[in-house]
Amino acid sequence: MTPRPIALRGFVLDAPTRHAARGIPDGAILIENGRIAARGTFSEISKLPAAADAEWLGGPDCAVVPGLIDIHAHIPQYPFVARIEESLLPWLKRYIFPAEKNFRAAEARAFAPFFFESLACNGTTLAVLYAAIHEDSAHECFAAAEASGIRAIIGKVMMDRHSYGDLEPDKILPVSIEQTRRLIQRWHGAAGGRLEYAVSPRFAVSCSAEMMRAAADLAREHGTWVQTHLSENHLEIETVRALFPEFPDYTSVYEGCGLLGPKTILGHCIHLSPAERAKLRASGSIIAHCPTSNLFLRSGTMPWDTIVEDGIPFGLASDVAGGPELSMWRVMRSALESQIARSFSTPCRIPFPAEIFHQSTQGAAEALGKGGQLGTLDPGKEADAVLIDLSEIIPSVEKPLLDPATTAEDLLPLLIHRAGPKSTLATLAAGKKIHLRK
Ligand code: GUN
Ligand code: ZN
Repeated sequence: MTPRPIALRGFVLDAPTRHAARGIPDGAILIENGRIAARGTFSEISKLPAAADAEWLGGPDCAVVPGLIDIHAHIPQYPFVARIEESLLPWLKRYIFPAEKNFRAAEARAFAPFFFESLACNGTTLAVLYAAIHEDSAHECFAAAEASGIRAIIGKVMMDRHSYGDLEPDKILPVSIEQTRRLIQRWHGAAGGRLEYAVSPRFAVSCSAEMMRAAADLAREHGTWVQTHLSENHLEIETVRALFPEFPDYTSVYEGCGLLGPKTILGHCIHLSPAERAKLRASGSIIAHCPTSNLFLRSGTMPWDTIVEDGIPFGLASDVAGGPELSMWRVMRSALESQIARSFSTPCRIPFPAEIFHQSTQGAAEALGKGGQLGTLDPGKEADAVLIDLSEIIPSVEKPLLDPATTAEDLLPLLIHRAGPKSTLATLAAGKKIHLRK
């Protein structure tokens, strides 16, 4: 049976390029069979034959934006947000490794549905995620993602040294490879392609060269994603230098193990040298920019303008629990504010709101090779969209809340600075409602 069409009414806002946002005041989109069938003014869309049968959501005091994309977060870490430590390595040891070690199948079964609902109520429709090291626990995370209707790229963490403490079978290289292979076979491409696998060697501190090489081979063999962390913190970088003296820098370790490429997502990338950035550019690797986490863990500020000039694909990411919230609006705000703060000590170009929004929608989709299917509200795209209640954002008693002359450039800073879970009325992924505000 074909599903009933859905129509979303509000200020239709998206950012097809990083140079400008695009808006239709009192607009609407029509969704049929999981795809955007039409985008226009409310008056145009409401006259279409399918609009008469459609379930209408929203109204003149709403906005409609593309589903938000979070390209790096950790499922088991979410309950452990806002645990203050001086920096990354002590934070991992004190809070994060014990939390992940305890995230067994039963814990994942109980928690993961809540995690995916939390993503959806923040307007996130595609997330790239780490599970813990345990195979059965990662399996439960995939099952919860499947049930939620969200799009997700997930991987079981791989580590064979400096990790959760005592040795467990999960940390032995051939065991880790076999567990990962089974998860790939079960989940890569599942749920009609909504779910994909990311082979996830945690970072060079926790993985031997043999493990990283085997991980790269496995990803290549199955055409999966790869995710890891790169150049986040100075002590981390020094540790990698000491562990891999045969390589000139951190990026070369991953390059030498075969981990770089257009399906590789590298968290943080704050302190890269020009030579390292050139390696990312040449390999087509993708940066996950995590500004809330970079500030929370006092790691540094990624040079946004340099990454853009170098043409390295990137997307924004919450990096929960390095970042304290799943909200991509909060992450966008932090991206803007951290570059403003950086400009006080280093002359740099501050990104404009449309550019930041683009990197959380179409730009992130393009980085992931999905720019033709996701990222904007163009007809033909898969219908990932968020309906936003502007009465939670615009502090005014005037009705309608928006002046008819309001532009996308006027509305976007309000969303970036003030949107959050309370203002998310509905979230749709592939045309299905995955969150409806109560
Ligand atoms: N580097 C290695 N593991 C992690 C992690 O879990 N979070 C962050 N922020 N950095 C890491
Ligand atoms: Zn991370």
